[in-house]
Amino acid sequence: MKNSEIISIKGLIKRFSIGKGYFTALNGIDLSFDKGQFAGVVGPSGSGKTTLLNIIGSLDSPTEGIANVLGQDVNKLSTKKAAILRRKHMGFIFQTYNLLPVYTVFENVEFPLLLLKMSGAKRKKAVMDALDWVGITDKVKSRPAQLSGGECQRVAIARAMVKKPELVLADEPTANLDSENSHHILQTMENLNKELQTTFIFATHDDKVIKYLKRKILLEDGKVTSDDIITN
Ligand SMILES: Nc1ncnc2c1ncn2[C@@H]1O[C@H](COP(=O)(O)OP(=O)(O)O)[C@@H](O)[C@H]1O
Ligand SMILES: [Mg+2]
Repeated sequence: MKNSEIISIKGLIKRFSIGKGYFTALNGIDLSFDKGQFAGVVGPSGSGKTTLLNIIGSLDSPTEGIANVLGQDVNKLSTKKAAILRRKHMGFIFQTYNLLPVYTVFENVEFPLLLLKMSGAKRKKAVMDALDWVGITDKVKSRPAQLSGGECQRVAIARAMVKKPELVLADEPTANLDSENSHHILQTMENLNKELQTTFIFATHDDKVIKYLKRKILLEDGKVTSDDIITN
């Protein structure tokens, strides 16, 4: 692996068993990602985007091939080691936000830091910084039910970013947002990518996201059919 390379995927195949047979969701993927990329896996529904992101995020393992992520072969990690890799180095953003409803905005964003055993004062500063990045410091005491979809997604971004992870994986993060909120969120992510050199990998088929990408990887029927660096 090159120095700047943080993900290297070779000959990746993922099959799901269905009844007596199986379905091939990823059918021979070779890809690498450099630190600081703002990349998207795009393609129609069912093309394998979520499956690929889940393997990169060590939430699922390959059937064949190698996925080396942040220096670890995800197929060889124990459940516990995979959890540590995610907790320390990755942030996840999902289309459905996955905020904890009984917790306040502050507590939702603080949650990943509790798992890292950070001191109270450090946690408070990190949470307020993250809420400031996404422009939502006035809602610290609100609960998710009191927020709009766009605000919930901004809290989810703050939660993914609060520990300043090396890698953020975002699966259809704008699926429930209107265009104004989508642009605001993409701009926030673009700024964090520039300021912190965080690598972002999106799975999306939303044109509003696609136009922000600096690299566009097209996935069709479990295969990469194009991979372009976007210069503009
Ligand atoms: N756990 C599973 N069991 C069986 N089939 C699955 C499973 N997960 C995904 N698939 C299938 O794999 C294909 C790719 O799914 P997915 O990665 O979710 O696509 P995308 O995110 O691009 O919409 C789909 O046809 C889906 O039905
Ligand atoms: Mg998906």
